[in-house]
Amino acid sequence: MRDIRIETIEPRHATALEQLQRACFPTLADSELMNARHFRNHCRLFPEGNFVALTEERVIGLGSGFLTDFDFDDAQHNFQEIIDGGWYSQHDPAGDWYYGGDISVHPDWRRRGVGSRLYAARKGIVRQLNRRGIVAGGLIPGFAAHKQAMTPQDYVDKVVQGQLRDNTLSFQLGRGFVVRGLLRDYIEDEASDNWATLIVWHNPDYRAV
Ligand SMILES: CC(C)(COP(=O)(O)OP(=O)(O)OC[C@H]1O[C@@H](n2cnc3c(N)ncnc32)[C@H](O)[C@@H]1OP(=O)(O)O)[C@@H](O)C(=O)NCCC(=O)NCCS
Repeated sequence: MRDIRIETIEPRHATALEQLQRACFPTLADSELMNARHFRNHCRLFPEGNFVALTEERVIGLGSGFLTDFDFDDAQHNFQEIIDGGWYSQHDPAGDWYYGGDISVHPDWRRRGVGSRLYAARKGIVRQLNRRGIVAGGLIPGFAAHKQAMTPQDYVDKVVQGQLRDNTLSFQLGRGFVVRGLLRDYIEDEASDNWATLIVWHNPDYRAV
């Protein structure tokens, strides 16, 4: 297998990352996808917290996000609002939480550990900066196929209990995330029927200062 590297994002990756979005998220509305200008902005804003997966010079994965003081008492939000249309303008270098804006691996390169390595890179920067953890809206792309038979809450409960497998949520649970709730109308995604889960990874090394 060719060498796969995880590196921090650079402006030269921006055009390829725009193409990667469509390959990775075929069921998302166009308006939910980020473009090369957004990715160049990530490089200016928080380069040490935004990661690409590369094989030779080909971009095959992305783990992007920003720091913010996420308010768990007012947790309902939608994707476009929190990412400010892709500009990550809520980024606050002093923020307690890493908000995961996007994690994606090209379909040809899945199930080889790339997504896990992107999460490991995010966890690494969260530990290095001593932040509380990672929070994100996690898609549930398996839900639409079950939506006539059960509610989103029942679906998520069955995935958490291991009775159903969801390609995205099961992966995130396996990487140490827990579900803190459901997000209604989070994103225009036919596969998730616009639902998402509020998922959280707690940094076990976090020390209050
Ligand atoms: C979710 C996603 C990022 C995972 O990426 P990935 O590179 O396939 O992730 P990994 O290879 O690290 O892990 C996926 C599974 O393959 C397994 N795996 C890893 N290496 C493997 C190998 N060499 N052989 C077989 N299985 C392997 C992992 O254990 C994991 O299984 P699990 O979920 O049962 O624990 C990817 O499927 C994706 O881009 N999905 C579409 C976009 C998306 O939904 N993103 C999340 C938005 S919230």
